[in-house]
Amino acid sequence: MLTECAKILISENELKEKIKEVGAKISADYKGEEVLFVGILKGCIHFYSDLTREITIPMTMDFMAISSYGAGTTSSGEVKMLKDLDKSICGKNVIIVEDIIDSGNTLSYLKRLLSSRQPKSIKICTLLDKPSRRKVDLQPDYCCFQIPDEFVFGYGLDVDQQYRNKKDIYILDPKDYPKE
Ligand code: IMP
Ligand code: MG
Repeated sequence: MLTECAKILISENELKEKIKEVGAKISADYKGEEVLFVGILKGCIHFYSDLTREITIPMTMDFMAISSYGAGTTSSGEVKMLKDLDKSICGKNVIIVEDIIDSGNTLSYLKRLLSSRQPKSIKICTLLDKPSRRKVDLQPDYCCFQIPDEFVFGYGLDVDQQYRNKKDIYILDPKDYPKE
């Protein structure tokens, strides 16, 4: 079990508090408006669920599934769409909800794709951001935590599809990295 000796980077309580704050900020920023929250599966699941329960304005939900990683811990740079949105986003306020921004490749692809569908507005809300790893020019509009250049897991984030169910966010020891 990786979690037995892995170091906790962000605890369950810290996550809860910060997400509450960001949820309140989004609700205030969009007062009088309705927002469609687009979750990017699968990493967003717990963040999406906790964030949307802090939203006090009218809102709807939709999801996309994207794959940009194999079993390794570095981005392949290739983005593959596994599931598209169910409905049109034309004329809607869209907030993309993502687990983490690393190189920025995934979100820059997604933002371009969704912007071409004529939404009223489009913003990015990420749980984690690793700004030092950025390869493209992309800034989140809402970010809960900026983190150092470490591979992290738990609270939706996986190591080779495992550990998404952990309540805290952990740092993966490089000796435990899965093979590329
Ligand atoms: P990007 O396209 O390089 O920005 O990568 C974004 C995607 O890579 C995220 O949505 C995650 O699924 C995955 N990813 C990046 N860094 C990590 C990490 O530290 N742990 C787990 N997944 C990660
Ligand atoms: Mg992801």
